Amino acid sequence: MSLDASQLASIAENPYKDDFPLLAKHPEICFLDSAATSQRPAAVLDAQRRFYEEMNANPLRGLYGLSVEATQAIEGARDHIARFIGAVDDEGRPQGSEVIFTRNASESLNLVAQTLGRSVLHEGDEVVVSIMEHHSNIIPWQQVCAQTGTRLVYLRLDDDFRITQEELEAKVGPRAKIVSVTQVSNVLGVRNDIPAISARAHQMGAHMVVDGAQSVPHLKVDVRELGCDLLAFSAHKMGGPMGIGILWGKAALLDQMPPFLTGGEMIDSVSETDAVWAPVPQKFEAGTQDAAGSYAFDAGLGYLESKGFAALEARERLLSAYLTESLAALDFVDVIGPEDGCRHVGAVAFNVRGVHPHDVASILDGSGVCIRAGHHCAQPLLSYLDVAMGSTCRASVAFYNDKQDIDRLVDGLKTVWQVFNG
Ligand SMILES: Cc1ncc(COP(=O)(O)O)c(C=O)c1O
Repeated sequence: MSLDASQLASIAENPYKDDFPLLAKHPEICFLDSAATSQRPAAVLDAQRRFYEEMNANPLRGLYGLSVEATQAIEGARDHIARFIGAVDDEGRPQGSEVIFTRNASESLNLVAQTLGRSVLHEGDEVVVSIMEHHSNIIPWQQVCAQTGTRLVYLRLDDDFRITQEELEAKVGPRAKIVSVTQVSNVLGVRNDIPAISARAHQMGAHMVVDGAQSVPHLKVDVRELGCDLLAFSAHKMGGPMGIGILWGKAALLDQMPPFLTGGEMIDSVSETDAVWAPVPQKFEAGTQDAAGSYAFDAGLGYLESKGFAALEARERLLSAYLTESLAALDFVDVIGPEDGCRHVGAVAFNVRGVHPHDVASILDGSGVCIRAGHHCAQPLLSYLDVAMGSTCRASVAFYNDKQDIDRLVDGLKTVWQVFNG
């Protein structure tokens, strides 16, 4: 995909930057690390402050008005999230009770591994993940496999960075009880065919878990279309606050899963020897919840919707394509992943030939360009791809970026090349 003049003109304009106080106040910063965490719009910062100034009380505990308001802040956010990911009933009503608040996507995946995993896995069973997973979707499964005598099986990629149907059929067999795959790779930027993977998992009687940390921020995700049973993601990668993670799950499955953390608020009753769990979602939310964070995330989703999520998604497609193709055009840069810009959702990994990624990132930082360098919490993938130094640079975009940001990256990379080869 080569962008035409009108597409280039559209990404050269930027109607969004001023909504983000950090970007508006610091034009010297060229932020290309949204896959690690996004910037936050003023709407989110204002909501966080509004909660503490106007609604602050411990949610779910008090019978007085302020506490009820704090509770409503959480419950309103739950319904909004449900609607955002298509978790609605046949009449279009949001299924907020299927939304569980955690601290981040990592905690959501640990919750699934330790509750679903420990209840359905038995010796000889298999858990299937892909080789492109973030460590957060590998280590929880390594742990539960060790605890249950279960085998962890990896889906490998073909030369075009795809999980083929043949690979799915070979690896997701009758022993598979859980399949857990990312929708978008945080390194390669590629999108997996989750409906096809879910279909194979269900055909074999396995539960399907999706890591949506890199997809929910950038793609219109609908859990019914994905066909999955559980979906994990983080608010902080999509304009929301840090410390708010989401686990969505089908109500009937969540009902069967035992609790993860225990303590206050997650019980119906407690005796000296025993406890009866509260219904879902409270069963999975022990202790005081980050009501301000949930409320602020609610405002963040409202912000994305007010801009038209489809328009943001379309802009990010163009930015991703321009980023990929600008990098691929540099003869001293190797893109790690497809060179076709259409294949990338936000992130592009690359290396400057012969230069350590940490040096690249430090030199770029000198001109205000922020990128990530390292193993991106995906060491098995980098080993599998035999990436030199086990490390890459990664630039990633969100809708508040523009063409000039990417041009600044390219200029910075030319400087890096000159420093080492000039
Ligand atoms: C694909 C993927 N999964 C999971 C995570 C973990 O997210 P968090 O750090 O919010 O728990 C990340 C973070 O970068 C990610 O990219």
